[in-house]
Amino acid sequence: MNEYERPVFFHLMEYASKAEGDVIDMVSGDPDWEPPTALREGLREYADADVDEFQYPPSHGLEELRAEIADRRGVDIERVLITNGAGEANYIATVEALRELNGSEVIIADPVYPYYYNRIQMLDATPRLVSCAADGSLDPEAVREAASEETAAICICSPNNPTGAVYGGAVKRELLEIAEANDALFISDEVYEQFVYEDGAFESALSFDSDRLVVTNSFSKAMAITGFRVGYAILPEWLVGPSRTRHMLTNVAGSRPSQYAVLRALRETPESYHERNRAMLDERIDRFCEALDAAGAEYTRPRGSFYVMARFESYPGTLENVERLIDDVGVAGMPGDAFSSSRADWLRFALVTPRVEEAAERLAAYFS
Ligand SMILES: Cc1ncc(COP(=O)(O)O)c(C=O)c1O
Repeated sequence: MNEYERPVFFHLMEYASKAEGDVIDMVSGDPDWEPPTALREGLREYADADVDEFQYPPSHGLEELRAEIADRRGVDIERVLITNGAGEANYIATVEALRELNGSEVIIADPVYPYYYNRIQMLDATPRLVSCAADGSLDPEAVREAASEETAAICICSPNNPTGAVYGGAVKRELLEIAEANDALFISDEVYEQFVYEDGAFESALSFDSDRLVVTNSFSKAMAITGFRVGYAILPEWLVGPSRTRHMLTNVAGSRPSQYAVLRALRETPESYHERNRAMLDERIDRFCEALDAAGAEYTRPRGSFYVMARFESYPGTLENVERLIDDVGVAGMPGDAFSSSRADWLRFALVTPRVEEAAERLAAYFS
């Protein structure tokens, strides 16, 4: 696991950009597809708004955006806090769990999105890793065994980064019950909600009512706008006050133009926008996995999100090997050991380029 001071993907993106040959970038989770048309329109419209629209928005987010989210999620508007991406929402929920509840451990799945692990360490708390199966599935019984009075939170993302697993409603319900039984918070990160390739596989934890539940989400991936920094937390009532204060004292407020454009896009974007992106990614998954088959690689086919973890024989997923792939093959991925020592033999590829087939063919040619 890497130091939180310098996430490994920053290093790799820089390394790839300086490489001599043509490199297909599959490192970061930055979508390469178009945002909704209404988002661009909202942004253009904003440029001509009155100057008072250029000033601080309400700290906890534009009222109309919060109302729109509350309406879609079926929750009281007071529970919606607009944050600088799901990253901040996850941060606030983790800090508040450690501050307000007993315990200094946060349970996370192994392999894990590195920011969870590093954030827990940064907060001087203890990450408690629970191993996933080879296909990325998580057994709630293993979480139950790991949970104790030391548990302040269980923080899980589904659809999952990096495995592409999708934990259904039944698993989420069990994780929530385990959190409740241990007086801990269940932080359900649902940023990849729009990227599920099996009907009915996804269910939001908001289906369950609990004062030990925080659901985090964002528009970064759903609208292909990771640079806009608009996300949100849906908080239990008792956490609304402290979370708003923490958000305000950290950021003052979020970005007003971004929130404005997101609101317009939320109101005007048809479901077909998301369907199209899903179909395009499903197709990329097919093409990439077919070529991985040809390369004789072991891999997990994602049911959600847009990452593929693959393993090539005798080629462990170390930083050095990833750099070698960049130099020799022209494909940049992420080392598996950035996500967990248990995935140290694996590499993660983000399907955020139209050149996935070419990337897989290059890998096949190199490894077969
Ligand atoms: C699981 C997970 N949660 C949160 C984030 C951060 O999202 P945001 O851009 O909304 O802060 C990411 C980004 O890759 C992610 O993979």
